[in-house]
Amino acid sequence: MPSSSVLLVFLLLVLSVFVNAADLYKSLELSKHASEQDIKKAYKRLSRKYHPDKNKDPGAEDKFVEIAQAYEVLSDQTKRQIYDQHGEEGLRAHEGGQQHHANPFDIFSSFFGGGFTQQQQTRRGPSVMLELEISLSDMYKGANIDFSLKKHILCDHCRGSGAASDGDIHTCRGCGGSGVKLIKQQIFPGMFAQTQSTCNECGGRGTVVVKKCPHCKGEKVMEHVQHYTLNIEPGMPEGHDVMFDGEADESPDWEPGDVIVRVRSKKEEGSWRRKESTLYWRETIGIDEALLGFKRNITHLDGHVVEIDRTGVTQPGYVQAFEEEGMPLFEQSGHGNLYVEYIVVLPVKLGPDMRRKLGEVFYEADDPKRDEL
Ligand SMILES: *[C@@H]1O[C@H](CO)[C@@H](O)[C@H](O)[C@H]1NC(C)=O
Ligand SMILES: [Zn+2]
Ligand SMILES: [Zn+2]
Repeated sequence: MPSSSVLLVFLLLVLSVFVNAADLYKSLELSKHASEQDIKKAYKRLSRKYHPDKNKDPGAEDKFVEIAQAYEVLSDQTKRQIYDQHGEEGLRAHEGGQQHHANPFDIFSSFFGGGFTQQQQTRRGPSVMLELEISLSDMYKGANIDFSLKKHILCDHCRGSGAASDGDIHTCRGCGGSGVKLIKQQIFPGMFAQTQSTCNECGGRGTVVVKKCPHCKGEKVMEHVQHYTLNIEPGMPEGHDVMFDGEADESPDWEPGDVIVRVRSKKEEGSWRRKESTLYWRETIGIDEALLGFKRNITHLDGHVVEIDRTGVTQPGYVQAFEEEGMPLFEQSGHGNLYVEYIVVLPVKLGPDMRRKLGEVFYEADDPKRDEL
């Protein structure tokens, strides 16, 4: 694969789109400490996601260009160093005042060894979908949640060939490497038909392994526990899918599929309930509070306090709205509403003293008939 510095020499194209202020690491969703491997992986994942042939969203093309430009700089050690120390300005100075960018589609082609259409023809392995239940407070505040997944990765000893060494992969004698055998069948005396069938000795691969890799025992892949970090954005919708592109089982026979994590709020004990961006809370009050008013504090999902100050009568089942105290709006600013429903509980039993006093309050004391109650 030609390095992008070589590309630059041949493909000095000036593009109309510049990513000036954008942080190049951010464009690739990486930290400053990313390794070369990380940069490659990020480019691979994101450029496929935003390739205009595949992604028809408005803005996908700009994003694709941005990703290519970030990759162009960060995959080049010299440029990356200049960028780390002197930023975008430094790069411009390095290139004589005018920043040049290679054609993002050329970067893509050289990376994948062909256009997208060619890429799509390679077989993709199965994707994996899993559901994770997230606590409501994490959904409210946002969180990074670690999880791990058992999957197959290519054996790091034989890199997926299944052979002990490259010399142990021989061309199949049965088919001469073509993977197919021609079988002559006699259909009439003296008359033959030739049929093609997949070579039974090599399974169509054209090669046979004479000594198996001791590491994977010829299986080509190995079990591996991979750790992931799931980034929960505040207010992430119920059933939202977070994609880990190309992270499913590896195999020499396919491009790995994706790991898709579907996110849901945990049904929790307690009084919080969520519906989209709306939150519901039930507050239980006594009959005295319902009649006379009260002050209460509700501790919200992130620990901040919502103060309730009611002065008049509160009917049982009354619902009070608190604007901006619901879930954060996903990828937007602002919050939904919080609705607090009041549950009024009556005492199970009244003592004689309380009963008499309440009688005095509710009924005129000079009404003789009422006194007997
Ligand atoms: C509610 O919390 C505030 C501080 O956040 C405090 O000043 C106030 O006294 C609390 N009220 C009640 C009824 O606990
Ligand atoms: Zn064969
Ligand atoms: Zn192996």
